[in-house]
Amino acid sequence: MKVINVGVIGTGGIAVGQHMPALAKQPDVKILAVADVNEEAAKNAAERFGVPHVFSDYKQLIAMEEIDAVHVCTPNYLHMAPTIEALTAGKHVMVEKPIARNAEEAAKMVETARKTGKKLMVAQNVRFDGSSQCLKRFIDAGDLGEIYFARVWALRRRGVPSWGVFTDKEKQGGGPLIDIGVHQLDLALYLMGHPKAITCSGQTFTKIGNTPGHIGVWGPWDWQNYTVEDYAAGFVRLEGGRSLVIESSFAANIAEDKFTTALLGTKGGAETNPLRIFGEDKGMVYDITPVHIPRVHSYEAEVRAFYDAIQNNTEPPVTGEQALNVMKILDAIYKSSELGREVEIN
Ligand SMILES: NC(=O)c1ccc[n+]([C@@H]2O[C@H](COP(=O)([O-])OP(=O)(O)OC[C@H]3O[C@@H](n4cnc5c(N)ncnc54)[C@H](O)[C@@H]3O)[C@@H](O)[C@H]2O)c1
Repeated sequence: MKVINVGVIGTGGIAVGQHMPALAKQPDVKILAVADVNEEAAKNAAERFGVPHVFSDYKQLIAMEEIDAVHVCTPNYLHMAPTIEALTAGKHVMVEKPIARNAEEAAKMVETARKTGKKLMVAQNVRFDGSSQCLKRFIDAGDLGEIYFARVWALRRRGVPSWGVFTDKEKQGGGPLIDIGVHQLDLALYLMGHPKAITCSGQTFTKIGNTPGHIGVWGPWDWQNYTVEDYAAGFVRLEGGRSLVIESSFAANIAEDKFTTALLGTKGGAETNPLRIFGEDKGMVYDITPVHIPRVHSYEAEVRAFYDAIQNNTEPPVTGEQALNVMKILDAIYKSSELGREVEIN
């Protein structure tokens, strides 16, 4: 097995918390360089993981010929440029979710991957979770029949991020929909077999995030500069006579947080988190509730899948095209909300 030299761009929460520990466990990977505008953060990450090269400018990392693959772990507004530059410099890229701030940026990334022939994978870790994979096996075995509808919830009652740029529309592209809704939406489309979206009607609200006096489970947030939605809802028509609804919030007056993808099929249904499968057989209606699902570290599994794709020269399991399809839906919900009517998705 060839040893793959890796560079990590952005050494914040997700890089140091998940990507770098996962990379450090791979026998065929060496983290050769890190880059972060916050020099202190870059140095700390390099020290912790024994990384020899440290840069404050990510372009210097991309200029290193020895680097074969790059992990882009910067905020959303800095996903497109480093990804395109790295692909163009002949590196494979794993980019954090969401692929970009919008479909226009995502399409440019996908096109660059196509032109350069390098691999582009998006870090949709929820797909790799033990229970997602367990449900996928039921679906592949035909236990749900034809899946015609999905309900997607990524709801926090008072979970407004009080750090980073998560409440800055310009830098993030949106609020909870693009930050956490993207995980559950990606999972739903993956489980449904990646149907294309046709039309969408959506509405977003900013009612709590930009007003003072609220309780935040992660401390007070900067409500005066809160420019994203705090709640979003959408109805999406999919090809093949299917559809889905999505709801996502950072703050909403609801009973509890809920991160669930629910599927309705002709033979059975299912809900994730916790996983339950609903069926009908032998004269009864039944539920399957797993007693034990083998634990999978979803971040380690996604990283391994990326390096397997590189080593075996196969398509990564989360493609840029799939992420672009997801981004088109998110864009459409925002657009529909702005226009106050249903919009078409091309
Ligand atoms: N998959 C998941 O579960 C998950 C969880 C958290 C975050 N994320 C994603 O990861 C990305 C980063 O989120 P985070 O929570 O790590 O944020 P963060 O703010 O903790 O880290 C971002 C890092 O990028 C650095 N950075 C900013 N501009 C840079 C530049 N020009 N060059 C190099 N570095 C630069 C910052 O200094 C910071 O250290 C986001 O896109 C987010 O959506 C994914």
